[in-house]
Amino acid sequence: MMFRNFFLFAFLLSTTSHVSAIDFCIADLKVARTPAGYPCKSPATVTVDDFVFSNYLPGKNNIFNFSFTLAYVDIFPSLNGLGFSMARFDIEEGGVVPMHTHADADEVIIMLQGNLTAGFISSDSNTAFVKTISEGNIIVLPKGLLHFALNVGKGKASANVIYSSVKPSVQLFDVALFGNNLDSAIVEKTTFLDHAQVQKLKGQFKGSG
Ligand SMILES: *[C@@H]1O[C@H](CO)[C@@H](O)[C@H](O)[C@H]1NC(C)=O
Ligand SMILES: *[C@@H]1O[C@H](CO)[C@@H](O)[C@H](O)[C@H]1NC(C)=O
Repeated sequence: MMFRNFFLFAFLLSTTSHVSAIDFCIADLKVARTPAGYPCKSPATVTVDDFVFSNYLPGKNNIFNFSFTLAYVDIFPSLNGLGFSMARFDIEEGGVVPMHTHADADEVIIMLQGNLTAGFISSDSNTAFVKTISEGNIIVLPKGLLHFALNVGKGKASANVIYSSVKPSVQLFDVALFGNNLDSAIVEKTTFLDHAQVQKLKGQFKGSG
């Protein structure tokens, strides 16, 4: 009996010490990512730079007049397995983040400067939850729901954005509806828009069909 307990104890010790030895799992970016993440790169090759992201700065403005610098697992390998990523968000006066969804991530916007009207539409009752937020405010945008933001203040608005995914997916509503190759007649039927509106929006969002 004592003999058996000794083996049990030795086994537990070996498994627990094995678990606690894994302090981190830096993504081995040379191997393909799976739904479970990247495999860990050899601890011998890990340096402090794997834990530091150095480009968390405002980027170039896009056509919607905002810039978005996302620190996600493919360019910040220490996020591997942590379940979150973050972005620096800067939007010019009058700029807009169109309706979009992240199927796999909740989003948190932490305001740094300016006035942003942000909100989402619930999926059960299509209720709009909308608020103008500024420095000192944080808003949560639940996973999978359509959401948007507008800079309604003077000058630039800036925020930090956190996602509950190391690499959030994104689908922009207008781009999905009109930037596609779906036959215009089907787009018209499924959106209840007329031919001219669909042609205009297909042109604007570079769709075909
Ligand atoms: C983008 O923002 C800048 C600065 O506010 C402004 O001058 C410019 O007109 C805006 N561009 C568009 C396309 O709204
Ligand atoms: C934001 O809104 C508040 C309240 O309306 C206003 O006092 C403030 O000047 C606005 N700030 C900017 C940057 O527009």
